[in-house]
Amino acid sequence: MSRYWSKVVHGLTPYVPGEQPKLPNLVKLNTNESPYGPSRKVLEALRAEVGDTLRLYPDPRSDKLRAAIARRHDVTPQQVFVGNGSDEVLAHVFLALLKHDAPVLFPDITYSFYPVYCGLYGIAHEPVPLDADFQIDTADYLRPNGGIIFPNPNAPTGQFVPLPAIERLLKANTASVVVVDEAYVDFGGESCVPLVRQHAQLLVTHTLSKSYSLAGLRVGYAIGHPDLIEALNRVKDSFNSYPLDRFAQAGATAAMEDVAYYSAMCQKVIATRHTLVTGMQDLGFEVLPSAANFIFARFPGRDGADIAAKLRERSIIVRHFAHPPRIAPFVRISIGTDEQCAGLADALREIVYTNRNK
Ligand SMILES: Cc1ncc(COP(=O)(O)O)c(C=O)c1O
Repeated sequence: MSRYWSKVVHGLTPYVPGEQPKLPNLVKLNTNESPYGPSRKVLEALRAEVGDTLRLYPDPRSDKLRAAIARRHDVTPQQVFVGNGSDEVLAHVFLALLKHDAPVLFPDITYSFYPVYCGLYGIAHEPVPLDADFQIDTADYLRPNGGIIFPNPNAPTGQFVPLPAIERLLKANTASVVVVDEAYVDFGGESCVPLVRQHAQLLVTHTLSKSYSLAGLRVGYAIGHPDLIEALNRVKDSFNSYPLDRFAQAGATAAMEDVAYYSAMCQKVIATRHTLVTGMQDLGFEVLPSAANFIFARFPGRDGADIAAKLRERSIIVRHFAHPPRIAPFVRISIGTDEQCAGLADALREIVYTNRNK
């Protein structure tokens, strides 16, 4: 049936999301979801939406939610754009702000959706290699470009670029938009949202899928100068007027307001990460320093695909990336509960020591 496909579709290489297996009793550490449920206040807000008003369209501009996000970050609602997950926000960002003659720059090892958006929208792009320690060096981005985007902390490495390095980049790169994707910033990074005030070309994106335990609700947002936000609204209103349904708007608004609950959950994840990293280092793993809710680790002489496969035999799923070859030895492990991570450490011990040839 592919003869009916458009030329664009023939040329697409779609993103492959981490699997969402239907099997029971799996320890799922592969897609960086939160191991803890959303706040009680969010669940109450969602229940309150079940009713007659569902026959009506939701607010196309998500005013209440944008106001709550603005309060949370000390910006104005005109500086906030919301979308159906940060994936949708990012898609609009690529079309609205990063599609120019010069190539978009992003790390060679990063969120693998970025090149997919470039393929979809026909955007020139150029990978910038991470340094020898798998870190982003912002000085490497000082070259002609149509825009710059990177996650901070980066994915799948988990490493964090300190704010002074981003400020230096912003001072030197004023002719194109710099997007900092802060999907994982709440797990130990420092947000560059306050820099938006001085730098009109900075756009910061966030998601409620990780630190707000709401991957199932699909809400993400961007903060930046109102001119950048207007560009995103133009694309959004040429695509889907109502990307956030009534549940998403109500649940996300309640989430933004329950700061105490979510800070406590992030602290738990950070503590568990610390214990897991120490345990894995004791086993002989090399673990990149992580400021995210996942870690990126390798064991000398072992292939990451093999470790992931052996974990799977023990009903634990983690993520492995075969490309580029430089990261093939690694596995990316989402931080679960203390109990899940203790089970993982036991399984890893068995795999790297007692099970070498099995
Ligand atoms: C770096 C990064 N950005 C954005 C996203 C997208 O998140 P969502 O669409 O769930 O908001 C992810 C998800 O894994 C991610 O890793």
